[in-house]
Amino acid sequence: MANKPRSAVLISGNGSNLQAIAQAVADGKLDLDLSLVVSNRPQAYGLQRAQHAGIATECIIAQADDRDSYDRKLMQCLQTHNIELVVLAGFMRILSDSFVQHYMGKLVNIHPSLLPKYKGLNTHQRVLDAGDKRHGASVHYVLPELDAGPVILQASLEVNAHESAQQLAQRIHALEHKIYPLALQWIVTGDVSLNDGKLVKNPQLPDLLQF
Ligand code: GRF
Repeated sequence: MANKPRSAVLISGNGSNLQAIAQAVADGKLDLDLSLVVSNRPQAYGLQRAQHAGIATECIIAQADDRDSYDRKLMQCLQTHNIELVVLAGFMRILSDSFVQHYMGKLVNIHPSLLPKYKGLNTHQRVLDAGDKRHGASVHYVLPELDAGPVILQASLEVNAHESAQQLAQRIHALEHKIYPLALQWIVTGDVSLNDGKLVKNPQLPDLLQF
């Protein structure tokens, strides 16, 4: 991977992870060339955040096209911008296997649970319903199966008695903003990589940050 890999953040909504990543770059803590933000929704607030930060934006709206044709447009867009690292941050579309294969090892995601627990949506409510004592977030490489792939870094916290899913979500978001830039920097430095679908990681680095 290049010194400062040209990177795209893919979003669908608020973009608070995008903001945390952009801030880490601005602070000199993350050596990415944050070249592009792509959204599938024109009203995504993250697009405004990107514009304020001076990052190029593209909006690719799904027409009646099937997954493969959408993903071909997406890939074309990423290739036009010479993107080397694709960072999913709340991008609410399932990517086709061929897209995932193409970017394997250069495609990462953040998921609001301690994977492999609670893949899919509504993780915070599901954690509360199950009465779990701890909850967290995971940064992982993306493999074809939804919310699967080797975990690079997790963070966890204690679930408070009587807190709402919304309160819990807010606290988990704060953890996400800590671990996403950190995990991305490990990829840039080569401390973490994917080899034959398996994680290769500097053994001195933590797997879980507990808060
Ligand atoms: C985060 O909770 C992330 O884990 C999930 O989507 C959400 C995106 O939030 N994949 P934001 O748009 O970055 O604020």
